[in-house]
Amino acid sequence: MEKFNASIQCDKRMWREDLQGSKAYVKAIHKVGLVTEEECQSIITGLDKVGEEWECGVFDIKDSDEDIHTANERRLKELIGGAASKLHTGRSRNDQVSTDMRLWMKNALPVLGSELRKFLSVFINRAKQEIDVLMPGYTHLQRAQPIRWSHWLLSYGWMLKRDLERLQGLQSRVSSLTLGSGALAGNPFPIDRKTLASDLGFMDVSGNSLDAVSDRDFVAEFLFWASLVGTHLSRWAEDLILYSSKEFGFVTLADAYSTGSSLMPQKKNADSLELIRGKSGRMFGQCSGFLMTLKGIPSTYNKDLQEDKESMFDVYDTLLGVVKVATGVLSTLKIDAERMRQALSPEMLATDIAYYLVRKGTPFREAHGLSGMCVALAEKNQCSLSDLTLKDFKSVSDQFTEDILCIWDYEKSVDQYNVYGGTGKGSVMSQIENLQTWLNQ
Ligand code: ARG
Repeated sequence: MEKFNASIQCDKRMWREDLQGSKAYVKAIHKVGLVTEEECQSIITGLDKVGEEWECGVFDIKDSDEDIHTANERRLKELIGGAASKLHTGRSRNDQVSTDMRLWMKNALPVLGSELRKFLSVFINRAKQEIDVLMPGYTHLQRAQPIRWSHWLLSYGWMLKRDLERLQGLQSRVSSLTLGSGALAGNPFPIDRKTLASDLGFMDVSGNSLDAVSDRDFVAEFLFWASLVGTHLSRWAEDLILYSSKEFGFVTLADAYSTGSSLMPQKKNADSLELIRGKSGRMFGQCSGFLMTLKGIPSTYNKDLQEDKESMFDVYDTLLGVVKVATGVLSTLKIDAERMRQALSPEMLATDIAYYLVRKGTPFREAHGLSGMCVALAEKNQCSLSDLTLKDFKSVSDQFTEDILCIWDYEKSVDQYNVYGGTGKGSVMSQIENLQTWLNQ
């Protein structure tokens, strides 16, 4: 049972935050006369010594150390003796563990944020440099309409921007001090929680002790947030896995991010991208698993909650790896603009035939039907849509005139989508500018 109950091997990762919380807490109880000046100083010096042991890797974990909180306090007592027994006055491991986790997250989330911003800037830079490259856009994985490669790149840029905005929201909710909630009922001594909060860098103070000791919304939110980032990156990876196959041939991964096969000498596999796609499943598994843990818990702290840290650390490590590798993949990827161009075909401009007629005054539904008849005619004649003669077009509708033969221009086609948000060059440049401005702020 001791082994089953212990969480030290996992939560020792928060040793720094545990000591930080204790140092702030001893100051708070000193202010209300629960420890003397000397006791307070001795506890702080002792906690710093414990920290040095962790830092140097010499902290000796004992079998009786159930978790990081009991371990640090046990060691403090060994180092400074009696005064150590006063540190926990009015505090419980219930408000302590939540404080440690929030402190840990407060440091960890900006690391993820900064990696995501680096990743986003690669999208923006590539989009700028490769703005003239055209490729097929797909719906249902079928060739649909020509688009700019940059427009595809930026589609993921906007997802990342939303991810970063959601991260900011999460960071503000993490920044709430739960210390001072005790085991469940609150703190019976008149400690100043506002000062405690600002000492520890929290923006807010939790409002209800029963809620505070069992509130793991911030963990659930983090797990969901990471799962959504993972989902975006998984879709991105899936696109690139397809585009890097011989059948598409649009992109080539750098050797550093691909591997060979132990059996087939010709193989170059997109392992980096497959792992990014695979790990999104792992993160969502942690998210759904933890929500299952949470949903049946009665009011206030229950030991089920100890499961929270494994999910939190695992998802953090996983996402950090995913984003770093994704950044490496995208910044070293080579594109084959010629292959992308060759993959464009005249039937992808069938909509343009309809728009041509619309511009001549035909209602869209009717124009769509007439364009469909042109497609059918080309099929019947076993020729490409662009091989239809003016006579052929006229046989479908007398609205067609000589200029219909000028629509087989992919650049021109793409640039008609110049309303903001579209794939036209001007619109893509505005997107780049807007994302860049947002990122610079
Ligand atoms: N190791 C515990 C956890 O991670 C700390 C809180 C324990 N509280 C208690 N009342 N047993 O959740």
